[in-house]
Amino acid sequence: MRVSGLGLKRIGLDDVERLFYPVVPVVVTAEYGGRIGGMFAAWWSQVSFKPLLVGVAIAPERYTYKLVKSSGVFALNFLDFSRVDSAPFIGDVSARFLPDKLEKAGLKVFKGKALGAPIIEDAAAAVEVKLVKVVELGDHDWFVGEVVAAYAIEDFDGVWRLERYKPLFYLGRTKRPQPVRRIYLTASGWERVEIDFAPGELARYDKQRKEVLNKVLKIVENAESREDALREIRRVLEEHGLEADDAILYYEEAIRRLGRKQ
Ligand SMILES: Cc1cc2nc3c(=O)[nH]c(=O)nc-3n(C[C@H](O)[C@H](O)[C@H](O)COP(=O)(O)O)c2cc1C
Repeated sequence: MRVSGLGLKRIGLDDVERLFYPVVPVVVTAEYGGRIGGMFAAWWSQVSFKPLLVGVAIAPERYTYKLVKSSGVFALNFLDFSRVDSAPFIGDVSARFLPDKLEKAGLKVFKGKALGAPIIEDAAAAVEVKLVKVVELGDHDWFVGEVVAAYAIEDFDGVWRLERYKPLFYLGRTKRPQPVRRIYLTASGWERVEIDFAPGELARYDKQRKEVLNKVLKIVENAESREDALREIRRVLEEHGLEADDAILYYEEAIRRLGRKQ
């Protein structure tokens, strides 16, 4: 059934996970008590610039869950598509049953310089992460950690050149009731476009944002109290035809940017 002019049709909630793919799954690696483990995780993200935080969803039944929680340290490794043969070892079988699964997958690890987290030698990139928080949510817990060191092959030059690195993407498993086959892919060529930040008519909105932000920063720097600052910010927002109710959000942004505690 079509429910929108663009041809969007309603899909079942069972399919939603695969709606979010393709993604680049990371290999979460960790070591505790002499045991090294690693697993694929498609559900991960950077979650803050300052501090530099990442989050990854790990189900409690994963062997890697125990290693990360006990050691408080982990690494996220990015694999090149050329390593796709190792995927079933990393993502289908638990180290509970195959303790040396990384070795069997042909993956060697070394200890990261910053935290000693196990890093995959052949990874295209890896970050060492110090566990900050575990948030219990649904059937997976959200592990938040601070990135303290990062490594990449030459192909990364501030951005990926994508000449040597062919990212390994995951598109999900085949649809039920078909037997589970996981679909991995990479691109053989890319369409690329570079777009100026807020180009054309958008430039004036960005200019306005900067003007307001600068005024707010000055107000917060000089205000005697939070209340004074909020009153002044409300006035500035009204002057600019913006919603005065948002004063608190501007205030909090300024506090963050000034590196102050509330
Ligand atoms: C592509 C892919 C992505 C996955 N993403 C996640 C994930 O985000 N979180 C999770 O807990 N498990 C995820 N899994 C499942 C684990 O990687 C899998 O259960 C693994 O065998 C656990 O290994 P372990 O028990 O040795 O830690 C994923 C599997 C695959 C193949």
